[in-house]
Amino acid sequence: MRVSVIGCGYLGAVHAAAMADLGHEVIAVDVDAEKVAALSTGTPPFFEPGLPEILSSSLASGRLRFTTDIAEVAGCELHFIAVGTPQSDDSGAADIRFVDAAVDALLPNLGPEDVVVGKSTVPVGTAQRLAEKLLSAGSSATLVWNPEFLREGFAVKDTLSPDRLVFGVADGVGQDRALAAVREVYAAAIASGTPVVETDLATAELVKTAANAFLATKISFINAMSEIAEATGANVTELADAIGYDSRIGRRFLNAGVGFGGGCLPKDIRAFSARAEELGLGSSVAFLGEVDAINLRQRQRVIDRVISDGGGDPVDLKVAVLGLAFKPQSDDVRDSPALDVARGLAEAGALVTAYDPEAMGPAQKRFPELKVASTLQQALLDADIAVLVTEWPEFVQLDPRTAGDLMAHKRIVDARNVLNPAEWRAAGFHYSSLGRP
Ligand code: UGA
Repeated sequence: MRVSVIGCGYLGAVHAAAMADLGHEVIAVDVDAEKVAALSTGTPPFFEPGLPEILSSSLASGRLRFTTDIAEVAGCELHFIAVGTPQSDDSGAADIRFVDAAVDALLPNLGPEDVVVGKSTVPVGTAQRLAEKLLSAGSSATLVWNPEFLREGFAVKDTLSPDRLVFGVADGVGQDRALAAVREVYAAAIASGTPVVETDLATAELVKTAANAFLATKISFINAMSEIAEATGANVTELADAIGYDSRIGRRFLNAGVGFGGGCLPKDIRAFSARAEELGLGSSVAFLGEVDAINLRQRQRVIDRVISDGGGDPVDLKVAVLGLAFKPQSDDVRDSPALDVARGLAEAGALVTAYDPEAMGPAQKRFPELKVASTLQQALLDADIAVLVTEWPEFVQLDPRTAGDLMAHKRIVDARNVLNPAEWRAAGFHYSSLGRP
């Protein structure tokens, strides 16, 4: 099929390359000429495993092109809207002006039977308003809401083989044709068994918001348990294992630690709360405020722990911060717990040296005074204490004897609960984690 993708950020760039990889002819549009130029040469502006490969092969096949000229989308049957919906500066609400701008830019280029497919994460009610916008502009194109559930670090796999597809569409003329079109564009995934949920626009929008709210709640739940475990001498990892065997609960997203971050979970729960307030239903999701508070408390908890394990005085304490990205396999430092820990320690007077395999450039853009090391070993050299805040494999596999030989004092705070306490203690380390004895 001939498809367009509007917005070449994380979601759009991956989606465009994946659609071309599936055999579709794709034109991807972004207002940022620099981004378009980079993507056109096969260079993604962010780190994502597997993306450079499908980007290069799709560009070479001639099925994928990037442009800044929206008029080039004319003639495509499907138009994916994949622009960002960042958190507004003044409130927790989502800023949806880029979504509106994308629809406005698309309008003059739409054919009567085209399908506009919304993928951006938007507050419930947005899609209905956009469908009305199409109608009132005299377009007979149909809007489908098709939320995206990809995880950074697994974005290519999640796009090519999603665990479910959700298609929201309003009743009426064009509904069947639009559903047939989205089923066709995702035919490969559907043929290999991906479940499809066909629903209305509001439900489709809410599925995404609810999914991220649930995931965030799961993480804050286990982090709250880790506080209780710590005070009572219990072990939060064993607790998670045990409750996780109950298939109604499930073990995934029950890893206690420094908490969730990134460009999605934190902003999405705040946007959900703001939207519920607008609907007069703030109390229905008031618990999300607590989920957010527990999550942010983890960052301070880790900062306090590093200071206390480091001897109590942060001033001139040499701290090796292992990790800056909000999670491994990503260079994303948006709302990153790791970066906040590095910043908080530096602000308290500690001499912080950070290392991350991918995220040092993006971290220094946000926090220019941050001192970084070019290797893990260099970060550890002469450190009084180390803190593991992003569970990159090279940190998880770090040999405590090697680390001990480099550091001034053998102390480590494992803020992701991923190291083996017995091994580190046997190597002479003062080891602590969150909610594990
Ligand atoms: C999240 C969702 O998982 C995706 O389904 C969704 O599509 C995406 O947001 C989005 O809205 O675009 P992502 O932000 O890439 O994906 O990252 P996750 O893998 O969900 O991790 C989020 C954060 O939670 C990370 O900081 C991670 O370290 C933390 N986390 C995760 C925990 O602290 N404990 C866990 O057990 C799991």
